[in-house]
Amino acid sequence: MARSTYAAVVLALSLAAVCSAVPAAVRPIDANSRLLKYGPESQAWVSSEALDFLRDTDIDLSLPKAALRQQYPVIAPVPDALIDILGNHNSPRGPGFLDVTEIGDADGARTAKENDVTIFAFPTPSKSKYPIADSLFSQINANSLKSTVTTLSGYSTRYYRSSGARAPATWIQSQFASAAGSANVKLIENSFDQPNVIATIPAKSGGSSEVVILGAHLDSINQRSTTSAAPGADDDASGIAILLQALQILTAAGWKGSRPIEFHAYAGEEGGMLGSATVASQYKKAGRAVRAMLNFDMVAYQPTSKPVVTVLTDTTADLATFSRSLISAYIPEATLATNKCGYACSDHFSWYNQGYATISIDESGPSDTYLNPNYHTANDTVDKLDFTKASAFVKLAIAWILELSE
Ligand SMILES: *[C@@H]1O[C@H](CO)[C@@H](O)[C@H](O)[C@H]1NC(C)=O
Ligand SMILES: [Zn+2]
Repeated sequence: MARSTYAAVVLALSLAAVCSAVPAAVRPIDANSRLLKYGPESQAWVSSEALDFLRDTDIDLSLPKAALRQQYPVIAPVPDALIDILGNHNSPRGPGFLDVTEIGDADGARTAKENDVTIFAFPTPSKSKYPIADSLFSQINANSLKSTVTTLSGYSTRYYRSSGARAPATWIQSQFASAAGSANVKLIENSFDQPNVIATIPAKSGGSSEVVILGAHLDSINQRSTTSAAPGADDDASGIAILLQALQILTAAGWKGSRPIEFHAYAGEEGGMLGSATVASQYKKAGRAVRAMLNFDMVAYQPTSKPVVTVLTDTTADLATFSRSLISAYIPEATLATNKCGYACSDHFSWYNQGYATISIDESGPSDTYLNPNYHTANDTVDKLDFTKASAFVKLAIAWILELSE
């Protein structure tokens, strides 16, 4: 991606609702977010929290702070590290911005025809409809979750622009292939050297082509510097471990649904949801029907006596309702919580931005008491996590798939 030093930028700070001055058709989801152009062709939707951070930070941005308070577009020079600075600061959750450079404004991002993708109706979850659920649940293995997280957090960093950025993706590809067969695993490359990894359980014959997607991000970040250790055990090796185990359990059982199920490991989430933006944009352009997308970002920091499963309600409301009922029906031992995570907190916003039904379900929301204090630091390590409690998320993944693949 082009990020030239001291490139001229336009900070379009006009209200999103009246964004006619903004030279792009991509629309923000959150009315408080702003379009920031940080290079001749580079742009990102930035959350109000991230803009507040830029206004208040002591970091020398070589950017007139007054520019950030303007209510109209201004042109100012900014360092090319601006996007890194945003990515490295602890916004409520995730980077707080969605880089839409690769999406552009002409190839399928939400435009005047917002919500032009069909949102399917969601069922009322009922465990008695799926007698196979208990036998699948009996295969859940906390040690195996821990083993996945141990391997992924063993890379010194999985930062998407580090020299070793590709290795964890290749490892995930091999794990997905062992479970699903290599013919059912593919890479979707990005403009940087860390691909997205996608495994599919095809639908049974005569099934639908509407896909059910589960995703988590494979990259990590250390907010202090992009070269510091970034084990990212909770954020988000834990989410990848849930995906992998759900895939392993379903394929070992020879299970297939009436819809294809896809497991997405995304690259570059910490750089502004880059990998998921690429994938969601491709799906939209190809006219693919997505029944729903479920995101897991940080699931295994579980310091209370019962597992906590938090439905983040910023995105598709019907899917939040469905998910809450599903958790009550299938995981009664968990504490069901709801929260909001803020604009661009994780990869589900890439799908929401394209008009698809999507939700993130995680260990906590950003304002919760039990927010993991270690994320984005060298302290986000495997020893801080509880994989027995995180097993609730494997149940969630399997139940979600059973209910939505009918
Ligand atoms: C990591 O944890 C140690 C021990 O609790 C603490 O002293 C240190 O400040 C933490 N480091 C970071 C970067 O949060
Ligand atoms: Zn994350």
